[in-house]
Amino acid sequence: MSFRLQPAPPARLNRCQLFGPGSRTALFEKMAKSEADVINIDLEDSVAPDDKDAARKQTIQAIGDIDWGDKTLSVRINGLDTPYWYRDVVDLLEQASERLDLIMIPKVGNASDIYAVDALATAIERAKGRQKRLGFEVIIESAAGISHVEEIAAASPRLQAVSLGAADFAASMGMATTGIGGTQENYYMHREGQKYWSDPWHWAQANIVAACRTHGVLPVDGPFGDFSDKEGFVAQARRSATLGMVGKWAIHPSQIALANEVFSPTEDAVTEAQEILAAMEEAKRSGAGATVYKGRLVDIASIRQAEVIVRQAELIAKK
Ligand code: COA
Ligand code: MG
Repeated sequence: MSFRLQPAPPARLNRCQLFGPGSRTALFEKMAKSEADVINIDLEDSVAPDDKDAARKQTIQAIGDIDWGDKTLSVRINGLDTPYWYRDVVDLLEQASERLDLIMIPKVGNASDIYAVDALATAIERAKGRQKRLGFEVIIESAAGISHVEEIAAASPRLQAVSLGAADFAASMGMATTGIGGTQENYYMHREGQKYWSDPWHWAQANIVAACRTHGVLPVDGPFGDFSDKEGFVAQARRSATLGMVGKWAIHPSQIALANEVFSPTEDAVTEAQEILAAMEEAKRSGAGATVYKGRLVDIASIRQAEVIVRQAELIAKK
């Protein structure tokens, strides 16, 4: 490893981020009572232009009024290419209670986008004497965003998480896709009369994971549009988890339990991780750097993999 150690990401659960429009206040209580780890109230694309002001007001009200329990509470602001975003930041930081944990900045294209919001947020926090520093999360959903993902992940100490936004990403890249995330009909290998579907999101996801892990930020898979397709959602989530992502968005409550299940280690996996750690302790005592566990090699790298699982299990147990 480089002498610069990889920083640990925020020690909190992020298995599922549940979205709901800031204009649909009737959903807020339901969102608060859900099993999602993170709640994202949206002021951006699920809110029509005429509803922006009302949605912002209702959201600010709800941040203080509703019991959000131990959830991470985040508001998705409008993009920096709109006339709305500065008012989102100003009003949220001047008027919302300090229960607000994060704002999500959509469509970031480079580190300067985050720098600009950081400067504004810092000034308001000082002017208003806010005690709690607001965190940021961002969405990579453009060609510019994925091209600059490393500088974005490094852009601010406020940054906690980066999500892939498949729909806007596909549009920005000029991808010939239809569904939001998941398998795409025309992305396949062909051999001996058989089609084998491949994963068009793989490259973007792996890039995001690498940038996030380098800078101690949580990598998250974004929305899966067809909420009637549970198997498609689970398959997409499992691929994301395999690549190192920590969670996935839910755009409908039916997706929450699916995400929680995929991004929680199974009891067997936790037991195995604990046994690997014990086996390695034993090996260390006898001066060995590697040993055999259930017929396979485990070494110091296995300790790190096992620790990720045990740490996640501990966070879940604390909930
Ligand atoms: N959070 C919490 N509860 C929700 C919810 C959400 N995002 N979406 C729907 N529900 C509730 C409904 O109120 C309903 O509750 P009830 O049984 O008490 O009546 C139940 O879940 C079933 O809802 P359903 O009728 O299937 O959905 P809908 O037609 O009301 O809404 C969507 C469907 C997709 C419009 C809605 O889920 C939604 O707005 N999702 C988030 C969209 C968003 O934020 N997009 C931005 C990020 S991509
Ligand atoms: Mg988007």
